[in-house]
Amino acid sequence: MVVHGGNRGHVSSAAAPVRDGDSSGDAEYLLGSSRAERERLLAQCALLRPASATLLDGIPLPSNAKVLDLGCGPLGILDLLSERVGPTGEVTGLDTDHRMIGWARESVTELALGNVEVRHGALPPTTAAEALYDLAHCRLLLINTTHPRRILDSMAAAVRTGGWVAVQELDWATWQCDPPHPAWSRLKDLLAQVFGGDVHIGARLPGLVREAGLTDVRTSAHTYYWQPGDRYQTLLLSFAGLFRDRLLRHTPLTSQELDSLISTLRDHLGRPHTTVRESLLVQVRARKP
Ligand SMILES: C[S@@+](CC[C@H](N)C(=O)[O-])C[C@H]1O[C@@H](n2cnc3c(N)ncnc32)[C@H](O)[C@@H]1O
Repeated sequence: MVVHGGNRGHVSSAAAPVRDGDSSGDAEYLLGSSRAERERLLAQCALLRPASATLLDGIPLPSNAKVLDLGCGPLGILDLLSERVGPTGEVTGLDTDHRMIGWARESVTELALGNVEVRHGALPPTTAAEALYDLAHCRLLLINTTHPRRILDSMAAAVRTGGWVAVQELDWATWQCDPPHPAWSRLKDLLAQVFGGDVHIGARLPGLVREAGLTDVRTSAHTYYWQPGDRYQTLLLSFAGLFRDRLLRHTPLTSQELDSLISTLRDHLGRPHTTVRESLLVQVRARKP
């Protein structure tokens, strides 16, 4: 495991079961597609770039590789994939959100990624799949859906025999503040209930890719530490704002209780020695036999 920064943290709570919804439609991305979410995701791309590059280092690709970034958002790892496959390769970015696709196109133009094509849509179901790709990758997609198994099955079906599936997802278990605070634990537990996907899915990735029929599974993980002034020190508070309506609708919290939790936690996170240890970024790569 690679740990960035110093300091320490505390491991928390038991994981929720992986859900796989019955609905055939794609669940809405609950964090939305505002300008602020675009900016948050692009900053996160920069943060996760070295870890994602390390993941790709372990995946040998042919010189004219065809690769996919599923749920690419405004950039995902399209830039990294573009470098890896070079001018004779092809990179496809797919996303079910029209605004994200517009922003991904902006990124492709700004970065002059000549070998990248971005398309709106999801992967076809396994029954209609064509095994086109040498690598199908997704990052922070499964944590936001209620049907991770179906998506992994489609990714496995979309790669050729001997090709690769690579997945990067978070596990909120390591997301803690030190010193601990009851307002952190309460807000985090309530947010986990309304987040829309399994916030501990990172822990289950090796098993899930095996269930999708993939072999040669390799797993690694990265985490990060924050202190007051770092943008991710207060990410839990940002999520509390984004999910305010859902928290009030789907949990016993009243509006005053939520405001009081947020303000208590803001004070605690702003104290000079409060450290936040980020969720664990779990990376899995596996092959199609
Ligand atoms: C948290 S963002 C991650 C974006 C990008 N992968 C990254 O790491 O920066 C999740 C993205 O997945 C997209 N998405 C959700 N469900 C999807 C699906 N079934 N197929 C393709 N994209 C999907 C959302 O629209 C959103 O842009």
